[in-house]
Amino acid sequence: MLPREFDGGRLRRLRPADLLAFQAYRALPECGRYQGWVPMPESEALAFLREMEAAPLFTPGQWVQLGIAESLSDRLIGDIGLHLAGDGASGEVGFTLAPSAQGRGIAGRAVREAVDVLFALTRATHVDGVADARNLPSLRLLVRLGFLLVETRPALFRGEACVEEVYRLQRDARPWGRGEPTSPR
Ligand SMILES: CC(C)(COP(=O)(O)OP(=O)(O)OC[C@H]1O[C@@H](n2cnc3c(N)ncnc32)[C@H](O)[C@@H]1OP(=O)(O)O)[C@@H](O)C(=O)NCCC(=O)NCCS
Repeated sequence: MLPREFDGGRLRRLRPADLLAFQAYRALPECGRYQGWVPMPESEALAFLREMEAAPLFTPGQWVQLGIAESLSDRLIGDIGLHLAGDGASGEVGFTLAPSAQGRGIAGRAVREAVDVLFALTRATHVDGVADARNLPSLRLLVRLGFLLVETRPALFRGEACVEEVYRLQRDARPWGRGEPTSPR
């Protein structure tokens, strides 16, 4: 199922050798502003990368984080979190791309691959993307992939009142087709 190649990048497992790149973009305020995570100390980040290198796809009630890498260099440029609900019936996706790689459609194509992996390995009927209403690049990404707005709700994020938008993509409504791999690499 992994890695999965796409135009301009690769969705693959995170690994300890990604540490420097992972820490570099996760330390940027613009990458973490609307995220559930905060930058980790190096030892914690290394343990996280080790854990994610081998984490099962998928455990109900758990997040798993995958890496986005440049095609040629295999350098880590972002990551995607996938969550399977406790009852296994739905998923959620979250995403981060280093600013230097943004604006080329790489994040969108990586999210598309990640969604295909989730649907291929689970019985989830839909996957949600939840973003702060001010996070326009994220909302544009979700809309571009065919996610539809299903809920707008007030939320408290890091002590600040905000509005969250929930976008949803049904398993059978993927605009790019079902996407099950023909030849896993
Ligand atoms: C959300 C985030 C990943 C979006 O990155 P991105 O590069 O803008 O996303 P995409 O891969 O969808 O690329 C779309 C952009 O590339 C441009 N583009 C260029 N070539 C393209 C192509 N072939 N296909 C698609 N888009 C293309 C689009 O026009 C668009 O730019 P625009 O938004 O200025 O119109 C990025 O802003 C980010 O990491 N933000 C911080 C983390 C975060 O807040 N995550 C959300 C929490 S869930």
